[in-house]
Amino acid sequence: MNIEQNVALRELNTLGVASYAQFMAKVSSIEELAEVAAFAQASNLKLKVLGGGSNVVLPESVSGLIVQFLNCQCDILKEDDTSILIRVGAGFNWHELVMYTLQQGWNGLQNLAYIPGLVGAAPVQNIGAYGVEVKEFIQSVHGVFLESLEKFEFDNAACKFEYRESVFKQALDGKVLITAVDFVLSKAASVNVGYSPLDQMANERGAPSPLELARWVISVRKSKLPQPSELPNAGSFFKNPVISDAAFENLASRYPDAPHYKQEQGVKIPAGWLIDKMGYKGKAFGPVSVHKQQALVLVNNGGSGEEVLAAAHEIKEAVFERYGIKLEQEPRVFV
Ligand code: EPU
Repeated sequence: MNIEQNVALRELNTLGVASYAQFMAKVSSIEELAEVAAFAQASNLKLKVLGGGSNVVLPESVSGLIVQFLNCQCDILKEDDTSILIRVGAGFNWHELVMYTLQQGWNGLQNLAYIPGLVGAAPVQNIGAYGVEVKEFIQSVHGVFLESLEKFEFDNAACKFEYRESVFKQALDGKVLITAVDFVLSKAASVNVGYSPLDQMANERGAPSPLELARWVISVRKSKLPQPSELPNAGSFFKNPVISDAAFENLASRYPDAPHYKQEQGVKIPAGWLIDKMGYKGKAFGPVSVHKQQALVLVNNGGSGEEVLAAAHEIKEAVFERYGIKLEQEPRVFV
């Protein structure tokens, strides 16, 4: 058990926020976690979980004991001619898992290539891109309740997945540590190229294999989204809001060019377009600015978590004033 004190977190969050953890421990098994939890209890420290740090806003100091669960085992649980069930440790790098599974001929995760972060965070956010969400492949999520260290296994329905949402971000926020995720992948090579710009690429180049599609996704993401190592960011900073049909009619009468996606209920509007249309691309709020190419991404140039949140707040207010639409933040605020 290696518990460190006063640990710098700047390198452990993709927004590059300067932050310090009172205590921090990296563990790879439930047994190690139990030792760390015993120390935390004896020292009256709250346990907090940090994954890959790609979807969090950190405060200047984090009290308690941050634990990172870094197990990256990948086991086959069941396999037949058409599909495979694998259990993957929460510490497995997400993109590496996508590429590893595709190289084995286990298909499904190709549209989710090049998303930063670790496997354990994928169900929390229900990560999604190019018309696909990870919930489509998750059979169950394993973990422990932080207070009791009691183990749990939630099936897909119990995870309450929605667009960028799950029970882990809602009722169980801050209460659990995810240790592993079971994924069902397919041996069939079907691909989803319904989403722009993959549809144009498929028209020009012909239908891709799942592995080729992952390579397309990587190139699209590289061209659109800034690399955290160059421009610290947390991906999309806001969710795309779903507004009522009546609110959409009103918006469309003012902005006939507004991109929109009809939902079962209401209409989803790209938040990036709302922010872009206000002329905010590249706009700076102190050390934090709206990315020049993709208005949904905030780039942090040395600001604190508080400054990132202040910039996000100003953008939310401006969007509300202009369109009457409330934006919801995507990254979680770590307390
Ligand atoms: N748009 C603009 N200006 C901008 C940004 C976008 O006009 O600055 C317009 C685009 O022209 C397009 C529409 O908005 O018509 C949608 O843009 P894009 O396809 O780039 O996707 P997004 O809605 O900005 C979402 C996800 C991304 C995901 C992409 C691709 C959310 C919050 N974001 O972004 O996820 O990669 O679709 O599927 O749903 C993330 O969650 O961190 C993330 C990067």
